[in-house]
Amino acid sequence: MDKSFFDQVPNRRGTNSVKWDGLEAFFGVGDALPMWVADMDFRCPPEVTEAVAKRADHGIYGYAYKDDEYYEAVIEWWSKRHSWSIAPQWILTSPGTISALAVAIETFTKPGDGVIIQPPVYPPFERTIRLMERQPVYNKLENRDGKYAIDLEGLEHALRAGARMLVLCSPHNPVGRVWTEEELQALAGVLERFNVLVFDDELHADIVYAPNKHAPLLKVAPQLSDRTIVATSVSKTFNLAGLENTNLVIVDDSLRQRMSNALMAHAMYRTNLFAIVATKAAYKHGEAWLDTLLSYLSENLDVMRAYFSANLPELKWVEPEGTYLAWLSVKDLGFNSTEAFKRVLHEGHVAVQDGKDFGPGGEWFLRLNFATPRELLVEALHRIARSLK
Ligand SMILES: Cc1ncc(COP(=O)(O)O)c(C=O)c1O
Repeated sequence: MDKSFFDQVPNRRGTNSVKWDGLEAFFGVGDALPMWVADMDFRCPPEVTEAVAKRADHGIYGYAYKDDEYYEAVIEWWSKRHSWSIAPQWILTSPGTISALAVAIETFTKPGDGVIIQPPVYPPFERTIRLMERQPVYNKLENRDGKYAIDLEGLEHALRAGARMLVLCSPHNPVGRVWTEEELQALAGVLERFNVLVFDDELHADIVYAPNKHAPLLKVAPQLSDRTIVATSVSKTFNLAGLENTNLVIVDDSLRQRMSNALMAHAMYRTNLFAIVATKAAYKHGEAWLDTLLSYLSENLDVMRAYFSANLPELKWVEPEGTYLAWLSVKDLGFNSTEAFKRVLHEGHVAVQDGKDFGPGGEWFLRLNFATPRELLVEALHRIARSLK
């Protein structure tokens, strides 16, 4: 796979892309450069495109069946890339991660129960908790001079106060932390002392920059197997989010049976035909594409680092260890996040995200998605710098 593959600037307008075609509806600025929602402006691995096109050509799209090859592809990937052994019977599927989170909340907690999130964090966690009529409990990440950490004392306090569930984001969107084995083991040391369900969102596991390394929670803390639902997908890794499929790895038989029944009740155990085809092709043939993508994204980080230090030194940012999301502090520029967001949108015509929407701790930040061809990234950086100066 040649790196120039990722330099191609695609035309995503008119493709039902929320990132591009949703600009007018979400931002009121239809011609902005979109650096917001977490998908990438890159074509997926050619082997995936071919497999999907071949299946589409068949012309019959009846109910789909996940064969052994599907489970083997998932298992093989996690074993090879993350040294985590998964048994095929541990895997359930759902049409997305947030829908699975809603089902887990509904199944394992009661209305009014506290569900812990660690803001600043992916906003749909809190939205879903609220819509399910549970109480979001904030255990704010600690920002230690730009390095974020989990507040273990705060977590223990929330659990003592009766919270029943934790939503863990690993790697963490938007601050880009890749939690280390030691950090996850320390976290587990707290969790194992309480009766708490852990919804462990590992969607960004494959987008990690060396020397950082993703640590699967149940690999490093197997003692949490009786209380943990792990969510994984090809969606972030291979840019396949529109196919709407998530794998849920649940080791414990009784936990899995309860989740399986709940998914069955909503008929959410079913899987989109094209997601099955794409998952198999991506996990079996997409590794070279992914390694090239990671090197391209890390060069995008180099470009941003050089650009900001030369042109906008007051803008401090938290360099991501993982994810293709950058968390930019606008505080030293004299703006709060909303002021900066509006300037970037209306003067720079770039759609980034207002950090405030990620909960407490996001008030001085913008989130920028840098998974885009270099040409678009550089154009966005010029516009951002001009609008914030
Ligand atoms: C951490 C995290 N979890 C979940 C999602 C969404 O997952 P899904 O589309 O499977 O519901 C995203 C999308 O950006 C995400 O960043």
